[in-house]
Amino acid sequence: MVALALVTTLLALLGSYAFYTVWFLLAPNSFPGPDSPGNWLPTPLEWGWMALTVVVALGAAILFALKLSKPIVTPLNAVAESLRQVAQGNLSVRAGFDAQSRGEAAQLVHDFNAMAERLERMENERRFWNAAIAHELRTPVTVLRGRLQGLTEGVFEPAPALFRSLLTQVEGLGRLIEDLRLLGLAENGRLELRQELTELEAEVTAVVRAIKPSLQEAGFAVSCQVDAQPVLCDPVRMRQALLALLENALRHAVPGPLRVEVRTSPGRCHLLVEDCGPGVPESLATHIFGAFQRGETHGQGSGLGLAVVQAIARAHGGDVICRPSTLGGTAFDLHWSV
Ligand SMILES: Nc1ncnc2c1ncn2[C@@H]1O[C@H](COP(=O)(O)OP(=O)(O)O)[C@@H](O)[C@H]1O
Ligand SMILES: [Mg+2]
Repeated sequence: MVALALVTTLLALLGSYAFYTVWFLLAPNSFPGPDSPGNWLPTPLEWGWMALTVVVALGAAILFALKLSKPIVTPLNAVAESLRQVAQGNLSVRAGFDAQSRGEAAQLVHDFNAMAERLERMENERRFWNAAIAHELRTPVTVLRGRLQGLTEGVFEPAPALFRSLLTQVEGLGRLIEDLRLLGLAENGRLELRQELTELEAEVTAVVRAIKPSLQEAGFAVSCQVDAQPVLCDPVRMRQALLALLENALRHAVPGPLRVEVRTSPGRCHLLVEDCGPGVPESLATHIFGAFQRGETHGQGSGLGLAVVQAIARAHGGDVICRPSTLGGTAFDLHWSV
C-alpha cells in the first residue's frame, strides 16, 4: 500500500511536470517562467517544493496505509494463527475480534470462529458417542461372556432359564445396534421411509395389543382414540416410534391412565402418548431427545429411545415435542405433514 501511494504520488508529480513541459514547449510566451522563458528545468525552489511534496505525500501515505491496513491485517493474522493451531488439533482456539475491523475482515473472523466451534462440537459429540457406545456394549458383553464361560466350565447347568437370559442380552444388543444404525442413517439424511396411505387405527391397535399385557400387569389402563382417516406415513417406523413411547411410559411413568391418540387436521397428523406422571425430570427437559440422554433413576434403557422417535418424526418432515399432559404427566406429541 505504501508503494502504491508512492507510485501514485510520483505519477501525479511527473504528470504535472510533463504537462508543464508540453505547455511550455507549445506556447513558451504564454508561460512566463521566473528566469528565462527558454529554461524548462525546475528552479532550485521548484526542486525543493517537489521534494517537500514527495516527503509530505509519503508520510501521509504511510500513515494512511498503516491506519487502513490494520483492520484488515490484524484479523487476517489472528485467523492465520488460529488456523495453524486448529491444524495442530487445538479446536478450542478462537480468533480475536479487532474492534476496528469491519466488513469482510470481521465476517472472516466470525465465520472462522463459527467453523471452529462447530468442529469442536462435532469432536466432542464423537468422543461422547464413542464412550457411550462402549459403555452400552460393555454390560451385555460382560454378562454374556461370564455366563458362556460358566457353561463351558460346567459351573452353570445348561437350563432353559439361563438360555433365556442369554437371549435377552443378545436381543438387547441387537436392539442397540439397530437403534444406532437408524440414528446413523438419519444423521446422514439417508433414513429411507416406505410411505403409504396407512390406517393408523390398525397400526396403533397392533402395537397396543402387543404391549398391553405388560402395561396391564404394571397397572396401566390404556385408552386409544384414533381418527379413522388414512394418512401418509411409513407404518413400520410409526409402530416403532409408538412402541418406544409406550415402553417409556411403562418404564418411566407411574401406573395409571395412559392415553394414545391419533388426531388429524388438514395437512397434519398428531400421534400423542400421554401418561399421568411423574413427568420428565427437569434436568433432562431441554435435551431429552438427544442420544444417550436418560434419567438417573433406572439402569435399563440405553437412552436412545426418544432419539429414535425424533429421527423417525423428522424423516417424515415433522417433529416430536414433550409437554405437560392434562393427565398430570408427560404428553409426547409426534406430528408430521400428510
Ligand atoms: N413417559 C415418561 N415419563 C417420564 N420420563 C420419561 C418418559 N419418557 C422418557 N422419560 C425420560 O427420558 C429419558 C430418555 O428416554 P429414552 O430416550 O427413551 O431412553 P431410555 O428409555 O432408554 O432411558 C428417560 O431415561 C427418562 O428419564
Ligand atoms: Mg426409552
